[in-house]
Amino acid sequence: MADVGCGHGSSTVLMAQRCPHSTFHGFDFHGPSIDHARDRARAAGVAANTVFEVVNASEFPGDGYDLVSIFDALHDMGDPVGACRHIAGALGDGGTFMLVEPFAEDDMKDNLHPLGQIFYAFSSLICVPASLSQPVGLGLGAQAGQKRLTQVLNDAGFTHVRRSAVTPTNMVLEVRV
Ligand SMILES: C[S@@+](CC[C@H](N)C(=O)[O-])C[C@H]1O[C@@H](n2cnc3c(N)ncnc32)[C@H](O)[C@@H]1O
Repeated sequence: MADVGCGHGSSTVLMAQRCPHSTFHGFDFHGPSIDHARDRARAAGVAANTVFEVVNASEFPGDGYDLVSIFDALHDMGDPVGACRHIAGALGDGGTFMLVEPFAEDDMKDNLHPLGQIFYAFSSLICVPASLSQPVGLGLGAQAGQKRLTQVLNDAGFTHVRRSAVTPTNMVLEVRV
């Protein structure tokens, strides 16, 4: 399984602890985060079934993955369509892409409640500049909403998108080719 944009490896380590017989590949383009992820995996006792690598989301190695995840990172990427297209090609037959993004409604006016305003504020200061600083620079922002995310996924070649879970802060999309 591949955890793309894994940062410090929090999600990668949790999944590796739960599934000790599976191998988890954590990918992120930020070297110090990957160093930290390796330290955390060692400390958590999952170094044997985790592999971390510094690489762009559009270029991570391997294919035939059963599961690829992105936790709260797609909207930070400069080229989310390119990253998703790469994931579509890296999944094995019947493989699933689990996309976790901040929860947002599709229309901006529906996000103008206190939590949504906080999301817009830090997205404008952190997420959007992070995306704009990269090639393509789509600048999705943390409040894209399911409709816009589905458009990105469809543009990348995915045809099946289902919201499988939602919390006040996040939504989980089950995505298949
Ligand atoms: C908000 S953090 C989320 C980190 C982690 N998934 C988590 O939930 O803790 C976004 C991550 O996306 C990574 N990122 C942004 N653009 C990327 C790209 N083009 N390729 C790989 N990683 C990228 C950043 O380095 C950062 O670690």
